[in-house]
Formats: sequence, structure tokens, C-alpha cells
Amino acid sequence: MNTATPLPRLENLLPPDCGTEHQQLLDGLLQPQPSINPKYFYDDTGCELFTRICELDEYYLTRTEAAIFEQHADDMSSALANHAQWIDLGCGDCSKTRRWLQYVTPARLIGVDIAGDFLQSCLADIASEHPDLECIGVVSDFTRRLDLADLLAEDEANPPVFFYPGSSIGNFAEADALRLLQGIRSHCGDEGQLLIGVDLVKPAHILRAAYDDSEGVTAAFNLNVLQVANRLLHADFDPANFAHQAVYDPVHNRIEMRLVAQRSHRVQLADRERRFEAGDYILTEHSHKYTTDGFSALLARAGFNCQHLWTDPQEWFGVFLAES
Ligand code: AVJ
Repeated sequence: MNTATPLPRLENLLPPDCGTEHQQLLDGLLQPQPSINPKYFYDDTGCELFTRICELDEYYLTRTEAAIFEQHADDMSSALANHAQWIDLGCGDCSKTRRWLQYVTPARLIGVDIAGDFLQSCLADIASEHPDLECIGVVSDFTRRLDLADLLAEDEANPPVFFYPGSSIGNFAEADALRLLQGIRSHCGDEGQLLIGVDLVKPAHILRAAYDDSEGVTAAFNLNVLQVANRLLHADFDPANFAHQAVYDPVHNRIEMRLVAQRSHRVQLADRERRFEAGDYILTEHSHKYTTDGFSALLARAGFNCQHLWTDPQEWFGVFLAES
């Protein structure tokens, strides 16, 4: 990190009471069908494991999306030419936006993520490489509420491009995905755009392998969420009591990740307790797959016009450019 330049501006839009986060986790675990929201995957270990997932042979998503970006970068960047506020939703380490900065020259970069410290240091690196780029970090759980209107209004002359890669939209059930897209649309004004990566429907065995790789990295990623729960809730999950499972549900076109109890046991959860019988499972993630028509229709319902769709030769992954 370049310590000579001042740190980028950071806005914290998280609700002051982060206790609600723990409550959400606890509530999910106490439901008749226990679940953990996938946002809890991403502690430091979870982020590292996710990076390893992205490098697996079986996990085609990241690689395929990157190849589409690379192959069509000129097309895409000319379609984005007039858009000088770049908003990276769930930017993580900002590596994807960083690659885009070879092709597009926004005046402003707004990186939105739930992990604030990490965000500021990643943006500081980008700011030192691009001295003319104004970098702003926004710490927010935008999956609950996107609240960038004031920030975007500061630079009204420059319409926004929302960048939401990686098929993260797949974590949401259709109604929630629609709500999130409508939230983005409401920030777009007359000229805003959305560049979004979406994993497409494909044969089940390819999907199952992508979420249950032979090296067990996805299993470790899934089981790690129990350690997150242990820390946040002072719980006493023993990961050895659970096994990773990835099931494809062809009715909803989604992968369902589960942690299946291997034996009957009890777990302490904050000041509560829950019993698991062998075979009971915790639902940890849905990863929805779309057809190109299905996702275009969803964009339309959210008030977007689909401007372009780029895919790979096998049509495994789609990059959609939508506009107001
Ligand atoms: C980050 C939500 C796109 O659903 O493919 C990877 C997360 N889970 N392997 C996905 C994930 C298991 C990933 N997303």
C-alpha cells in the first residue's frame, strides 16, 4: 500500500447496531429448516477459500466470465463510453474493476462492500495507480438496502455504471433478485447502466462438480461458515459433525449447498440450544442459474432495457449490459 497518498474517502452506511447481524444468523439457525445466509461465508478464511474456488478446474464461472470480458472488452467499453461513475457492487479486493480500468476511464470509482478495512486498503492501491480517479469506499450491506442516491447526486453530470459481476445475483431467490435490480434501477436515472454477470442453466453434472470439487475446497468453504457462527454467536459447532453437500434442484434451476449432520448432537447457539439428528441439514446457499431469456425478462421487470448480451461459445455464462 502506498502510504504517501491519503486514504480514500470511506462512507459507512451500515446500521449502527450490528447486533442485528448476529440476530439474523441466530434466527436462521433456529428455524424449523435451519439456514445460514451466504454472506456469512466471507470472513478472512472464507475469502481465501473463495479465491481458491475461483481457480479450480471445476469452477468454470470466474474463468468463463473473465474470458468473456477479455474477448469483448472493446465492444463493452465503447458501450460504456459515456459513463464516468463506476460503482462496483461487492467489490471484494476490487480485482475485477482493476482490470476494467485498462479499458474504461471513469472519473469516479465507488466500491461497495461489507468489509470496510479491506475496502479502504484496496481502493488506496487503485488510487495510487490512477491519480486522476476519485476513489470512494462505501461500507454497506447493499443486498438489504442500496443507498447511494446522495453520493451519486454529487456528480450528477456523470451517469453511473453499476458493475455486478461473478453471478452474485444468483444467491437471491427471484423476488429478492428483482428487488435488488429495482434498487439499482432506481439509482440509474435516465442514462445509467448495469453490467452484470450471470451463470446460465447447463447440465446438472457440470453444476454439481462446480459446487463439490474433487479437492474439497468448496467443502472447506462451506464448513468454514460454522467457525464464523462459532465466533459471532459464541456457538460450539464441531465441523466434524457435518458434511458438505451440493444438490441441483432442476425445478428452481439452482444449486443448494447444505451442511448435513452426521450424527445426533446438540449445539449451543448464544444462549439457545439446538438439536440436530443425523441427516438434518443447514441450508447455506442457493446459487440460481438463469436462461438468457429468463434473465432478460427479469431485467425488463426491474425497468431495464437489455442493450447487449455477451456469452462464451458454450453459453455457460452471460454478461448482460442493461440501461435505463
Ligand atoms: C459468489 C455467489 C457467485 O454461487 O457460485 C462458490 C459462491 N459458493 N462456490 C456461487 C460459491 C460455492 C458463488 N457466488
